[in-house]
Amino acid sequence: MSARQQQMGRPGGARFAQFKLVLLGESAVGKSSLVLRFVKDQFDDYRESTIGAAFLTQTIALDDTTTVKFEIWDTAGQERYKSLAPMYYRNANCAVVVYDITQAASLDKAKAWVKELQRQANENIIIALAGNKLDLVTEEPDKRAVSTADAEQYAQEAGLLFFETSAKTAENVKELFTAIAKKLPIEQATQRGMRGAPRAGVDLRPEASGTQAGQGCQC
Ligand code: GTP
Ligand code: MG
Repeated sequence: MSARQQQMGRPGGARFAQFKLVLLGESAVGKSSLVLRFVKDQFDDYRESTIGAAFLTQTIALDDTTTVKFEIWDTAGQERYKSLAPMYYRNANCAVVVYDITQAASLDKAKAWVKELQRQANENIIIALAGNKLDLVTEEPDKRAVSTADAEQYAQEAGLLFFETSAKTAENVKELFTAIAKKLPIEQATQRGMRGAPRAGVDLRPEASGTQAGQGCQC
């Protein structure tokens, strides 16, 4: 169903807001795989490393009246693309910073991204930390290189949402994006949309200011 159809079929009082989300983290931690699981409910054992960045969208219903559309920028983790990242996080409303729970160095990299976001991104940005590849340690506990407790404590101190996920089995993937959606300023975004100057989100109700769904990136 297109966003336009959603708009037409939406009863009065329903809320629809869209937000920009950026994924950051070291190469091969599973950023693209998490997005693929969230958007298409699929998983590839052999994924090509992302070049530049990829753009996808996904909509989730928080309840009977509230729908959130994510405009997702899946960035490339390879070092050579690092300088492009600010272009994608600059206007982001939310970020998922991913590490691989079997690679301790990937958490250090994630912490560096969090620091950069907290210094340079939108000051109200919602940041979630995702420790991915949970399936690997379920099968072989010895593979774990970052304890849940350590990551959780860091996330709490840094003011981040925290989930351990598996793009492979889908564990906690929907929960991660839903938790972010719940923290987003949906009411505020809707009001901004009605004033015709949407930034954090867009009101797509028929009476809103002519803003259409699927406008794409405002980066
Ligand atoms: P870049 O695009 O280079 O930044 O990497 P990325 O973070 O997007 O990683 P990607 O999603 O391409 O995944 C890298 C590899 O890890 C692929 O072979 C995936 O199949 C694998 N992978 C991703 N997520 C998981 C997971 O949850 N469990 C397991 N077992 N493998 C995963
Ligand atoms: Mg990728």
